[in-house]
Amino acid sequence: MRRKYSVGRSLELYERALHCIPGGTHLFGRRAELAAYGVSPIYSDRQQGGHFWDVDGSEYIDLLMGSGAVILGHAYPTVVEAVQEQAARGTGLTLNHPMEVDLAELLVEVVPCAEMVRFCKGGGEANTIAVRIARGATGRDKIIFCGYHGWHDWYLAANLADEVALNEHLMPGISPTGVPRVLQGTALSFEYNNLGSLQAVLEANQGEVAAVIMEAARSSLPEPGFLQGVRELTERHGVVLIFDEVVTGFRLALGGAQEYFGVLPDMATYAKTLSNGFALGAVVGKREVMEPARDMFISSVYWAEATGLAAGLASVRAMRDVNPSATVWALGKHFMNSMNQLAERLELPFTCAGLPPFPFIRFTHENAKLNQELTTLYIQEMARRGVFAYTVNYFCFEHSQRDLYDVLEAVGETFDVIAKALQCGDVKSFLECPVRQADFRRLV
Ligand SMILES: Cc1ncc(COP(=O)(O)O)c(C=O)c1O
Repeated sequence: MRRKYSVGRSLELYERALHCIPGGTHLFGRRAELAAYGVSPIYSDRQQGGHFWDVDGSEYIDLLMGSGAVILGHAYPTVVEAVQEQAARGTGLTLNHPMEVDLAELLVEVVPCAEMVRFCKGGGEANTIAVRIARGATGRDKIIFCGYHGWHDWYLAANLADEVALNEHLMPGISPTGVPRVLQGTALSFEYNNLGSLQAVLEANQGEVAAVIMEAARSSLPEPGFLQGVRELTERHGVVLIFDEVVTGFRLALGGAQEYFGVLPDMATYAKTLSNGFALGAVVGKREVMEPARDMFISSVYWAEATGLAAGLASVRAMRDVNPSATVWALGKHFMNSMNQLAERLELPFTCAGLPPFPFIRFTHENAKLNQELTTLYIQEMARRGVFAYTVNYFCFEHSQRDLYDVLEAVGETFDVIAKALQCGDVKSFLECPVRQADFRRLV
């Protein structure tokens, strides 16, 4: 049912933020202009299970779940207890904390390629460490990538030579401003599901490539033989293969994409689900690649800080016990099928695709501008019905069947509005907000 949710307090805060925080937020995806500005909530100070409450006091079903970081549920009891207990005992920065050994051993147990582990605080950081280790272990400089891997210089350097290199992996319009020009030519991309494109880059840079880093799956499934082909090519060229499991880790399966697809990389990187919303990242890998890190200066005070480790240990143990991957597969599958059926019945230019643990929605009209208007209308109407929905959808272990029912009811009503808007030929007249400014679409 459509309700009038006020977001006045959110808008006030955002206005203040724009004056003192460049860009207004610390995660690009949280910029208010990417949602239905003036309708979507922008600030939330309480989250529980699969819901959050915004600063104006309204409750929403959360379909973004911390950009996929929270897989068990917001404020999951055993994780919160572990963090609270450890916080009261100190953050453990003078000496090493025993939990860093316990958690490293646990990851070695559950992640197929893991023989050694290093911790850090986030996904982009984990990838930067993995790239440094691969460069150090091979003595080579160039990195070939496919997917989104964070904000660091090694990755954004791809756009120094050609400002469109990241379009298909991150988003269009990324300027490498501030990235040293001397890095030009050190980060090279290849196309997902196109082994020939990887082979061509490897052959053109024979003997110079340290690593291939990739998301094993994102909005598309790998075609049969693709990941195996990547493994064979990297082995043939003596190149370290890194899977970025920041999204796929613990979500596709407990052992991540490498377990689900049965292809073993040399290294893998984790963050997000690893600690269910608390700050922790990890680089794992085979002993022969990881051990040289002993002689590289890769070091930071907060990486093995004890509340993050406590969150990681409690989260991995809980994930081993309750298997949230099975829940998010089932909820995601139901969501995808129902959405596609509803859209088909109304003949909407729409698809919900990708993998059930993180399905994407996409309007598919031949007019790209109209698709942005329709996406904005979708986000607006879902928000008006108490569902915080975006283009990517993440369920969690604590989303209930009731939540799914409420989400699908909101989708049904939203699609009726969209059908009416398309019929009348003026989608913009249905918007109570500006058309969203950009897309955070990833095509891998
Ligand atoms: C696949 C992937 N790698 C890396 C990152 C960057 O992680 P963080 O934002 O923790 O630096 C993200 C974030 O969305 C991601 O999806």
